[in-house]
Amino acid sequence: MSPRGGRPTSTRSHSRVRPPLLRVAVAAILAVSVAACSAPNNSSTSETEGVALAQSPPGAPARFAFGKPADSALVALWARDVRPDGAGLPPGKGSASQGKGVYLAHCAMCHGPTGTEGPAPPLVGGDAWGKGGPPKLQTIGSYWPYATTLFDYIPRAMPQNAPGSLTADETYAVIAWLLASNGIVSTDAVLDASTLPAVRMPARDRFVRDNRRGGPEIR
Ligand code: HEC
Repeated sequence: MSPRGGRPTSTRSHSRVRPPLLRVAVAAILAVSVAACSAPNNSSTSETEGVALAQSPPGAPARFAFGKPADSALVALWARDVRPDGAGLPPGKGSASQGKGVYLAHCAMCHGPTGTEGPAPPLVGGDAWGKGGPPKLQTIGSYWPYATTLFDYIPRAMPQNAPGSLTADETYAVIAWLLASNGIVSTDAVLDASTLPAVRMPARDRFVRDNRRGGPEIR
């Protein structure tokens, strides 16, 4: 019996009894979105996924000015990743003391002046692992198994209002400051593509590789 009092929980029975109204709504949304994407000078009515396309309304612009073509610099910004062993780290370097300035200029407004205040999640501190399992307050310092992940995550996602805007030197520096503030590297640490992968995170041995290859136990 389901928690909501006996309604069927099987997804199969849901799809079999999809209400007709919902089907109409889905068809209408499809029709609108397909029509919006169709070429404006397409005067013939065509058939896509069973939905008839209407002509573009009179006065519709030739193109909708959404987005911009992805040039090679934009592609390069996103087409990268840094692996746990450091593969993918770019050239450059930065110290914890340089990183403090980067942090205060680009991160502190959300993560707080020392990385503990928020309102965005704390980046410094965190509970220790006890016998009861993972720490309740999970931060970079208490939970992340690899320091290199910071160089994957920060250029991709941070600062949240301008991801990808830091230089490689600034990124190494802010990572050095974050790790020093967590007591993981010394305050005079300088990080680069060879020293960052050598940093051993406190939570490193708290994770095991999932080597299951299939079978009923993971379905
Ligand atoms: C505009 C606000 C904002 C700014 C500025 C910002 N962050 Fe964040 N940051 C966030 C939010 C919100 C999250 C949580 C995102 C989520 O959970 O998806 C976050 C998450 C993170 C995390 C992951 C924390 C965890 O334990 O999962 C890291 C690391 C981080 N930010 C680093 C930085 C760094 C370094 C900077 C400056 C270069 C920065 N952030 C600037 C809002 C911000």
